[in-house]
Amino acid sequence: MNSSVKVAPVERIPTPLLAVAVGTLNGKVPTSLLGLDEGLGGALNRAIAQGDLTGERDSVQVFYGQQGPKRVIVVGMGKLGEITRGAVRRVAAVAARRAVTLGVETMTFFLPHEFRGGVTPLAIGQVTLEGVMQGAWQFKDLKAVGEKKAPLKHVDLVATREERADMERGRLIGKAVAEGQRLARNLQALPGNWCTPEYLAQIARMLGKAYGHRVNVFNRAQMEKEGMGGLLAVARGTQEEPRFITLEYRGGGRTPPITLVGKGITFDSGGISIKPADRMEEMKYDMSGAAAVLGTFEVLGQLKPPINVVGIVPSTENLPSGTAIKPGDVVRSHFGKSIEIVNTDAEGRLILADGLSYARRFKPACVIDAATLTGAVVVGLGHHASGLMGNDDNLMEEVRRAGELAGERCWPLPLWDEYREQNKSDVADVKNSGGRGAGTITAGWFLREFVDGFPWAHLDIAGTAYTDTDRPFIAKGPTGFGVRLFTEFILGRVRG
Ligand code: BES
Ligand code: MN
Ligand code: ZN
Repeated sequence: MNSSVKVAPVERIPTPLLAVAVGTLNGKVPTSLLGLDEGLGGALNRAIAQGDLTGERDSVQVFYGQQGPKRVIVVGMGKLGEITRGAVRRVAAVAARRAVTLGVETMTFFLPHEFRGGVTPLAIGQVTLEGVMQGAWQFKDLKAVGEKKAPLKHVDLVATREERADMERGRLIGKAVAEGQRLARNLQALPGNWCTPEYLAQIARMLGKAYGHRVNVFNRAQMEKEGMGGLLAVARGTQEEPRFITLEYRGGGRTPPITLVGKGITFDSGGISIKPADRMEEMKYDMSGAAAVLGTFEVLGQLKPPINVVGIVPSTENLPSGTAIKPGDVVRSHFGKSIEIVNTDAEGRLILADGLSYARRFKPACVIDAATLTGAVVVGLGHHASGLMGNDDNLMEEVRRAGELAGERCWPLPLWDEYREQNKSDVADVKNSGGRGAGTITAGWFLREFVDGFPWAHLDIAGTAYTDTDRPFIAKGPTGFGVRLFTEFILGRVRG
């Protein structure tokens, strides 16, 4: 999507669609919109008088003009006190979704000064781009005939002369973040027969070529040499070649890197501990952590911040077969600990154990992993927040704050010692399922068994990586959760 920042009175901009964001209206046309209302023959004033136009959150009203904007949509943000970065991102997404429904290819977006609630022009530039691209996203690559809506191709942001430069800087950040998020969502949307471990490796190599990241990919033989027994155990069930992918972005000289690990199960059938057929197709999304990591390397390539970041993506399918791992099997992890695999459907933690262990090689400043790890986190937090665990309270708080800024919430769950007991095995050092109670926490504790020597945070994104309900600001399907959070975390560290 193309974008630019324009300085002009909104009522005079010749555009097929002007989107105006407003907070709750107190019964009259806001001063910034008087010129526009005049151009519309007083239509805004009449709509407000009728009580139809109120600025209620997610509401959209369409008006038709003569000169200047052909169409005007007024999109509501709700209460003035609740106008934050998140509200602006959301209103931009709602506007873009309507733009796509209307079939327009160009949109002009205007946030009047009355409704900015302290959000700076820089932030407005950023979150508007994030929101617009989130709302306009559609995945039609696999449709052969019919049902294709015209994409939204261009968005202009309206600014005053004084704020133009700041909004322009924000626009470029937002564009990069949004393109990272788009890459992640596109990868998530692709089913298992398209998005294979080798496909993820190709995307990593493509990012390496485009931006100069160092990319390394291990095949099965190299994993064997490394002793990656967790990843290899899961990979035994499938004909699809597993991949262990690393990416390195070097913008920070010799300083220790932030390291991001993403679960890359390109399809999770459960293996021998097979899942029920109902909605099993959703398990194509079990590589959402990997998608978030790869999306973040798109952002890094575009923004080139002065910091080092490493990405690690262990990837395989989880399928049943004559050679697949069985409940009771014991394997040796990359870390050295032996693992009793009591449930082959608890595969994510097996491949992440090797990823977290391998992370030591980079002497990381900190490690954050993202994984669609447990159904239990959906029971606990639903679809509105990811589960957050770790071994360092400061890091966890830093991650939580980055998530708030990004509009990607996460909430802490305790890794108290008591929970560790549930993963004790009679035959091995640890077993891969702690049973019914506290499934998200025992999964977190399992990962912690393979963390040594760095601050670490774990995000269980099983409830946030995708949704099956359409919302006004995001279509059902993949969300790209993690790209924005990781980016805000990284940019926060750059600011220091
Ligand atoms: N990929 C699933 C977790 C998942 C469930 C993601 C629902 C998204 C939506 C994971 O590999 C899994 O199967 N976890 C098991 C663990 C159990 C066997 C200990 C689960 O949550 O049931
Ligand atoms: Mn599973
Ligand atoms: Zn899984």
